[in-house]
Amino acid sequence: MKYAGTLVAATAISLISVCAAEGYTNESEVPYYGRSPAVYPSPVGNGTTSPTWEEAYRRAHSVVAQMTIEEKANVTRGVEGPCVGNSGAVPRLSIPSLCFADAPNGLRGQEFVSGFPAGIHVAATWDRALMYRYGHALGSEYDGRGVNVALGPVAGPLGRVARGGRNWEGLGADPYLAGGGMVEITRGIQDTGVIASAKHWLLNEEEWRRNPGSMGESLSSNVDDRTLHELYAFPFMDSLRAGVGSIMCSYQRANHSYACQNSKLLNGILKTELGFEGFVVSDWDAQHTGVASANAGLDIVMPDGGFWGANLTMAVQNGSVGTERLDDMVTRILATWYVTGQYEKYPSPAIYSASELHAVVDVQADHADLIREIGSAGTVLVKNVNGALPFTNATRFVSVYGYDAPVSASPWTNPSRYMGGYEVNFGWETYNGTLITGGGSGGSTPPYVVSPFQALQERVSRQRRTLRWDFFSEAPTPAYVNNDACVVLINAYASEAFDRTSLTDRFSDNLVNNVAKNCTNTIVVLHSAGIRTVDAWIDHPNVTAVLFAGLPGQESGHSLVDVLYGDVSPSGRLPYTVAKNESDYGSLLNSTVSFDAFPEVNFTEGLYIDYRAFDRQRIEPRFEFGFGLSYTTFQYSDLRIEATGNSTSPFVNPNVAIVQGGHPELWDTLIHVTCSITNTGHRSAPEVAQLYVHIPSGPVRQLRGFERVPLEPGETKQVLFPLTRRDLSVWDVVAQQWRLQTANYTVSVGASSRDLKLHGVFEI
Ligand code: BGC
Repeated sequence: MKYAGTLVAATAISLISVCAAEGYTNESEVPYYGRSPAVYPSPVGNGTTSPTWEEAYRRAHSVVAQMTIEEKANVTRGVEGPCVGNSGAVPRLSIPSLCFADAPNGLRGQEFVSGFPAGIHVAATWDRALMYRYGHALGSEYDGRGVNVALGPVAGPLGRVARGGRNWEGLGADPYLAGGGMVEITRGIQDTGVIASAKHWLLNEEEWRRNPGSMGESLSSNVDDRTLHELYAFPFMDSLRAGVGSIMCSYQRANHSYACQNSKLLNGILKTELGFEGFVVSDWDAQHTGVASANAGLDIVMPDGGFWGANLTMAVQNGSVGTERLDDMVTRILATWYVTGQYEKYPSPAIYSASELHAVVDVQADHADLIREIGSAGTVLVKNVNGALPFTNATRFVSVYGYDAPVSASPWTNPSRYMGGYEVNFGWETYNGTLITGGGSGGSTPPYVVSPFQALQERVSRQRRTLRWDFFSEAPTPAYVNNDACVVLINAYASEAFDRTSLTDRFSDNLVNNVAKNCTNTIVVLHSAGIRTVDAWIDHPNVTAVLFAGLPGQESGHSLVDVLYGDVSPSGRLPYTVAKNESDYGSLLNSTVSFDAFPEVNFTEGLYIDYRAFDRQRIEPRFEFGFGLSYTTFQYSDLRIEATGNSTSPFVNPNVAIVQGGHPELWDTLIHVTCSITNTGHRSAPEVAQLYVHIPSGPVRQLRGFERVPLEPGETKQVLFPLTRRDLSVWDVVAQQWRLQTANYTVSVGASSRDLKLHGVFEI
């Protein structure tokens, strides 16, 4: 096999580059584009990943051996119960019903639980330690309420489509950043004894027709094999490597085969290539056949849609599904239950409807402090001129504008999963009240919400200063003459079940311009469920500072005020690209709206989403991926690159067994890159150092390292970026393996994907 070299991939769309690079003459020869090859039989889990898994499998086998076929079928399906999903129990063998619950940012629909920042906000911190603490705090709340399986974290959608309705649940539009989050959050959750369920596997990149309905089948996400591995499966690999116990298969078709009956995705990639030991749970009502889904590798269905249960028993009795497959489904579920130690002692579910009287199990602990910390750490400062921020003692009189400043008229109303947590407003561009989470099953249910207005009032009253406000006017009356600053708060809403119709809205843009017209120090705060374009006002000379304040959770106002007043120096970085014009996203702006009976979404852009696309097309973004300002300044120096001495052969050793996460050598560190960073300003602040690599035959640069480094004024620290074999490899569609190319790799370290300060080259 020969490669055509760097330029092919850099100048042509990925599919063509795959064709050229791999020696194919046309698209139809490229393996798996739009086709999902059959991979059977379903691999039988065996626990070879670790002695702990092995022991868990041993226990599971001995219990499964005592079960009747009906009991086995019962364990693999949803039953009525208190949680959003409940598996069938086998009381005779002390196998309880397992409780499955949302959301990835807090236990939804419950009282006395926390409303954490959403995934996209956590990603904007670029802080691995905070990501772990987030997962751990979440996990402890699930554990405290007897939830066995937490339905998160989310790495799908990744964010292919700028207006995608659920991008905010995930961890940003880059597989390496998302992967970093998946590792830490998975570990955090599972260290509390709760089983994490990484979702949605795979290619659920838009909401439009994600499910079949009166118009026909669901959309099919058609993607080439290389892109599938290097972009979409990549962050899930990290979660698997971190030991995730469950994977949720997604709603839509993937290369034409429904994701929950897709033998290539489940039997092939997940259970063979990536050695998954745990169980696959369907997304809710994502099962469309009984026998096919069983044989393709689905292990448990939620809720019971009638395909399994007695029908699965019959399918096993008549030989359509092998006994071995049914045993494997149950073994995987029980082994995961054993591996997390839940069999020893686990509270029964304390999950209630709003109308139920129950003993209060308060699981909030001190999580509010962490929520506040992540809230400010994920806040991204994108403009700051004329010394607008932070506020100082001279800031005596602040005016507050906009519907996002106060809390909404009523908090979340209905704890049912369809209503979501905080509230679902189908088709809305903005949320009337401060936005702290998105809508749908991923919404949280905060115990309270500290609004920006409340937190500003607290601060102003403590300092005995003055505050004025107008939440509702589109054109507020001119600012007070004594006014020092005008803070305008707007938002951009998104929810499960629909994609966004705009990345901006006229009312909010008018509001900002109207305030700026009369106020020379206008500070815009934007709470947004994903990308929000700002070109309607960003260059207005009176707009002196702009904060992308994300979806920060229940402590929203405190997190914001900490940054506004300089108690915390902003260090958040954008986990996506903010374009100047919506049209700059091109075919990746909108979901593909089709009314066909078999709608197709062709991922013809291949690897080129978000900043990879902007870089390739030489489109200058308004704010690039990884961008964010600080209250201090940093200097980068002393880039060093060292080989670790680990093997750099093109392929891994075939005689080493696969474990969960993939071949173990994929995780070997091959290169150490180090550099020094100095805080050259006068405030203590963290810097987020980012490393990008050009992998030959791939995009011009791809994120392959990040570290958030707290620095006192004048302090210098060395940062280490370990580059693994996987980080540097491409997916070879012919060899069906990750391949390390023998080539030169250019590496850059800097403060964003475009503010690259140090450069080097290494050879493999
Ligand atoms: C969502 C999942 C969620 C499930 C259970 C589905 O509609 O896609 O993410 O976990 O519902 O609420």
